[in-house]
This record gives sequence, C-alpha cells and structure tokens, in this order.
Amino acid sequence: MNGRDLVRSVKAVGMVGTAQGLRTVRSSWRRWRADAAALEPPGAERARVPGAVTAMEPEPGGGVVRFARAELRVRVTAGGAVFLGWDGAAPEPSYALACRSPEPDPRAVLEPDTEGGWRVVSERVTVVVSRYGAVELRTPGGVTLRRDLPPRWWERADGGAARWVQRSEVPADARFFGLGGRSSGPRLRNGTYRLWNTDPGGSFGPGDDPLYITMPVQMVVADAATHLVFHDNTWEGAVSVHEGVEGAGSGHDRVGSCEVRMSGGPLRYWAMVGTPARVLHSWASLTGPPALPPSWALGHHHARWGFGSEQEVRRIVAGYQERGLPLDAVHLDIDHYEAHQVFTVDRDRFPKLPQFADELRKGGIRLVSIVDPAVKSERGVEAYDSGVAADAFVRDATGRLVRGVVWPGESVFPDFTDPRAREWWATLYKERVDQGFSGFWHDMNEPVSFAAFGEATLPRSARHSLEGRGGDHREAHNVYALGMARAGYGALRELHPEERPFLFSRSGWAGMQRYGGTWSGDVSTGWPGLRASLSLVLGLGLCGVPYSGPDVGGFDGSPSPELYLRWFQLGAYLPLFRTHAAIGAGRREPWGFGDEVLGHAREVLVERRRLLPYFVTLAHLARRTGAPYVRPVWWGNPEDRALRDCEDAFLLGDSLLVAPVLESGAVRRAVRLPPGRWYDTATGRAYEGPGKVLVDAPLSRIPVFARGGTVLPVRGCDGGLELEVWAPAEGRSGGGLVVADAGDGWAEAELERFTTRWTEGRVVVEREGGEDGPAPGRPVRVRGLDG
Ligand code: GLC
Repeated sequence: MNGRDLVRSVKAVGMVGTAQGLRTVRSSWRRWRADAAALEPPGAERARVPGAVTAMEPEPGGGVVRFARAELRVRVTAGGAVFLGWDGAAPEPSYALACRSPEPDPRAVLEPDTEGGWRVVSERVTVVVSRYGAVELRTPGGVTLRRDLPPRWWERADGGAARWVQRSEVPADARFFGLGGRSSGPRLRNGTYRLWNTDPGGSFGPGDDPLYITMPVQMVVADAATHLVFHDNTWEGAVSVHEGVEGAGSGHDRVGSCEVRMSGGPLRYWAMVGTPARVLHSWASLTGPPALPPSWALGHHHARWGFGSEQEVRRIVAGYQERGLPLDAVHLDIDHYEAHQVFTVDRDRFPKLPQFADELRKGGIRLVSIVDPAVKSERGVEAYDSGVAADAFVRDATGRLVRGVVWPGESVFPDFTDPRAREWWATLYKERVDQGFSGFWHDMNEPVSFAAFGEATLPRSARHSLEGRGGDHREAHNVYALGMARAGYGALRELHPEERPFLFSRSGWAGMQRYGGTWSGDVSTGWPGLRASLSLVLGLGLCGVPYSGPDVGGFDGSPSPELYLRWFQLGAYLPLFRTHAAIGAGRREPWGFGDEVLGHAREVLVERRRLLPYFVTLAHLARRTGAPYVRPVWWGNPEDRALRDCEDAFLLGDSLLVAPVLESGAVRRAVRLPPGRWYDTATGRAYEGPGKVLVDAPLSRIPVFARGGTVLPVRGCDGGLELEVWAPAEGRSGGGLVVADAGDGWAEAELERFTTRWTEGRVVVEREGGEDGPAPGRPVRVRGLDG
C-alpha cells in the first residue's frame, strides 16, 4: 500500500487525526522495524544449475533423473497429470491438493532419449528431460507445447531460503491465461504478474496488479493443445509472460516465453495437457471439486456497506418486494458488528437479528454475514480472550503477538496455517449461525493490516505454524485466506450438516474452490472497472474457481444510470449476482436510477430467476467436471485464433453466449461467434458461426445467443422445470444436460441427458436412458423455428 492508498483507507474508517490513525502509523512502524530486525540479512548467494545428467533411478510412473548438481523427479499420475519435482521436492505436503497426491501410473516408465536424455511416454503427454535438465512437454503426436529450460537457484551460504527462476518457451501462437484474478485479462498481456495476494487499498481498475487472489496457475492455449502448469509453491514470486509472434510465411516464428521466479520454497510443478475442458477436469481432480452453492446463492444478492439498522434493511427488502423484484439474499457488512468487531452484533441497531433472519427466510430471503479475520486486541472481547487461550494468534520471532490495525482498531490475526487455530476459529461460527445467517463472506483476508508505510499486511518475519513445520509470513501469506476458508467451511458442515455451506472469500489460492467462491473485490465504478470485473471472473474460472461475480455498479462513487444498468445486465449472467458498494458511495438499488432503468432491471431479475435451473445445472457440472460456468468463447474451439483473442463476450455453459455492453452509449455491438448456429434469443434470428456479426444491444438488454440444438433448463410459470430447446440447424442434431435441483442438502442429483434432432419436418426431443422411454418427461418449448 502506498501513501495515497493509506490516506484512502484511513479516511474510509474516519481515522484521520484520530487515535486510530495514530495507532496505524505506530503499528506500521513497529511492523517495519520487526521485519528489518528479524529477516536474516541477504548474505552471500551462490548460483546453481543442474549440470549434466549422471544417472536415472526408476520409480512407478517415471523416476528420478540425477544431474551433477541437482535431481528431478518425474511422475505421471493415474489421472494423466504429471508431477515434476526438483531436488527431492515431493507432491506433499501441499495446500493446493484436495487429498493425497494421485497414484503413479504404473504404465509410465522413463526410457532413454536421444543425446543422453530421458523421456516418459504416457497417454496424454510425453515428457522429455534433456541431458542438462531442460524439460519438454509434448503432445502424443510429438508437438512441443512447452520447454522448461534448466532452472537456476541462488542459494545462501547460511542455508536460508533459496530463490529460483525457471524460464520456459511456448509455441509462437500460444496465449497465456490464469494466474488468479487479474484485472487486465483474461488474456495475460506481456508483462510481469506478481504472486502475492494484495488488497490494492482502494478500488481497482484494469492494470492494477496484483489483486486479492494470485496463484501460480498458468493455462496456455496453443494450436497443438492446451496445457496447465501449476507451480506448487506458496512463496512470493512473479511470473513474466511474453507472447510469441508467428512468422506467418514472411519470417521465422518467435516463440513465446514465460519466467517464473520464486523467492523461496520448492521447485515442483504439475502439468496437464489436453483440451481446455480436459485440463480443467484434471485440475479439479487434483485440487478438489468446486463447492456446490445452495440454489438460493444462485439468485440475486443485495449488499451494502452502510446499512444503518434493521429498519434500513427492511426498507430495502420492501423496496424489492413492492416493485416485484426478485431478491434471494441480503448481506450485512461490518457495520452490523458492535464497534466493527467480528462475531458480534450491534444490538441497538439490530436488536432481534435471529427473529429478523427467520422472518426473511420465510419470505425466501437469506442473510449473509461478512467475516473479517482480524480480532480486536482487547481483553474482554470474547474472540480475543478465547483466541489467546487457544494460542491461536500470529506471533513475531520474539514470541510477541503481531498487532496491526484493521476496522476494529488495534487487532491480532489468527494463524490459519495452524490446525489448532483453525479448530478454535471454527467454534466462532456458532454465534453467526445462531444469529440466523445462512452464508458467509470472508473479507480483508490477504490479510490486510492498514499501513502508513510498507505493505498493508503482516510483517514477512511473522511466524506461522504451517501445519507444524514452522515458517514465516513469506510462505504463509498467500494461503492465509485458504486456511480461513477451510476453517469456516468445516465449521458450517458441522453446524448445519444437512445444508451445503455458502461461503465466498476475497482472497484465496489454488484449491480455494473446495470451500466456495469469491467476488471481484473493490472494483472501481466506471466503464474500465466493468471490463476488469469480467476479466477476473473469466480468469478465476480458468484457475478452477468457477463461482464469482463483481460488485454490480462498482464499489465506489456513483455509476451513471446507463453504467449501472449495463453492469446489472452483465452481473445477471455471472454465478454470483450481487449489488454492493462502499459506505458513502451512491445507492445501488435498482429503483435509484429512474423508471426506465428500473423497468429493465426488473426484466433482468425475472430472467435470472427463469434461468435458475440452468445455473443449478452449471453448478453441478462445475462440481463434476471442473468446467467453469463462465467460459471464454474459445472454450470448445481453442484452435480458432480470432476467438482466442476475444475478451468482451463469454460462454455461459454450453448453451448460451453472452455479449455484454462494455462501452458507454453503445446500442449495437459486434459479436464473434464460435462455429455452428447461434440464435439471438431476443429476436430469434439465426446466425451461422464462425464469424463476426453486428447485433442490436438497446439499453433494454444485452445480446444473448443460444446455441442451435441446445436444451436449456428454465423455470416455467408454475415454478416447475421446463426445457427450452433451440432448434438445431436442418440436418443437424443437438442436446444438453440437465441437473434438476435436488435441494440444498447433499443428495446426489440425477443427470438427465437430452438429444434434439429433426425428424419428418419437426424437432424431436428425447431423453437418453429415461425410465419412460425416450419421452423427455418435462414440458418442452422449441424455439428458433422461424429463424
Ligand atoms: C472491503 C471489502 C468490501 C467491504 C468493505 C467493508 O473493502 O472488499 O466489500 O464492503 O471492506 O467491510
């Protein structure tokens, strides 16, 4: 956080010239001093490279290749993912893996390659290790997807953390995606992306980097295949990417490159090769299936920092109800706490929260609570006293509690890398559940501690348990929020075993999808912010985190009616559909922008509700396959260069293509369609892809296309599930998957498969393997017949 950011934060909490402001300055000074004293001086460093190959030792799935000054373990695992670990690095322990590392694939063996190297050939990928330690990933057809040059380490004479760098080359046509939630993607432009979860300290726009969720997960899409590489290392690092340039017949190709630098920790990584869908499936198998949100969490949420009282929340809810606007959840921010202290309620302003929550719930609206990790450092504060008793807070190298300043004032921080601290933290959620909250919104968990100078987080020298291994904040920082999510999720499973937990978190790391989703953080109000918010959702989806969405309208300031509406229209097609804004920012209620906007917003909300069965289906499919709900338009056609570069539209599952309006004043826009027939759902007009079409995008709606032949589950007028079928092109067939909502518990929902085709001049819809024969067993409406 720089000075400007600090001023913003301090202002936001009204700390200027206050004791709190003074405490922030003092506390950041103390943190800075602690770091300066405790982190060992850099000392002399010596560079090391592997040297020439000396031996090979076979192991199941591959083996260990020894070099003069290093060794590399290569292991192909049963699901097809390949593990590569230098210098004894094993797949475990790992914060990213869902459980134990997958079993080695016994069919994969290391065999001699040309020029003294070794290679392992497996079903999906060939790994070639050169004589000097370069590693190539090749398709089964022999095309090189990636060449990792021999790594280089810088080791310290005193044995402290060694930093390392690994440079890789990728095909000239390759594009990079991922690395967590990045504001200027989803395609990662040439540049350096830091791996260090960070609150930008104010609202962010395109180019602000890093943000709350960083992860060393790269998805690289090239003509020959897609691959995902995950460096399983939680330390601070950076990834520089440089796209290649194709000669296109007039010159040589210039390969793309990528350089991963880590300030410490093991050099180990996983690689997965295939189509985008296959790669994400492998990724979800490795790091865990995404948590399935309860179906109410797929509706519309309204949040606000600055709800003054229960009366105010009632007014908002009544505002929705009186105007016939569907609403599924209301979020309470820190201002419902007593003196900003987590796990408390201000009883003057929210005197009967459990009764209020119950009343809302009966009306179909759930309450969601913000949960911040920082605990007010004061005796008598329950969370502080019990946390001290459980020895749950982060300490410095001298054993003193690390103190910082967050919303409640001087605060201490649970060590979420300590199993005992997680256990203690989990006990605190009972209070929330007793207050009637159904869902949880983890915030400020990068973690943030306001700073007058230096970084707005814990000192790098702060000590952490790291599951008993011991270490400091340099290693623990990026997984702090992941540990918090793990604790919260575990608590909710115990407190409400019959209901699926709903949790989303501002910060996180690889594997966070196991516990829930995220949102786009404090995105700045403005057209660039709108674009950035879509970039985050797409990028996170490609890192295996499928459930997210932005603060509709942007976090700060006041959006124009047009911007608000365009954001609302986009938000309705994203998994988390939530309006939210900062204290002091303009209103975000749909009725605050005039009657025209209200009318269009109502249509959006009604359509979102109609699409609920589709969102439920996408949530189940994400859980089963790892495929995000929101996918780049190249998802099924990664070889299409033009689609690969398209960033202003997305696929929502297999059935829909959504083309939001991201520019002021636009009432028409160009849309690049993947191959096949696509219907403009508003006009029913059919278009044939691949190609670019120009379509109307009046203020009343954004263009949404349905794939020809698709079967879309929607909510009928009676609330039952219906099938909206979009006619396949003549002579073609289609189909779709439907997962009917099996409630918010753990019952395994049934997957229904449908096919569509033309027979004797009409579109026939059949259910595969249905008990009643091919009858679809659901009301069907065929559309697109006069396209
Ligand atoms: C952070 C969150 C934001 C929240 C605010 C107050 O800025 O990102 O969503 O409203 O803190 O809790």
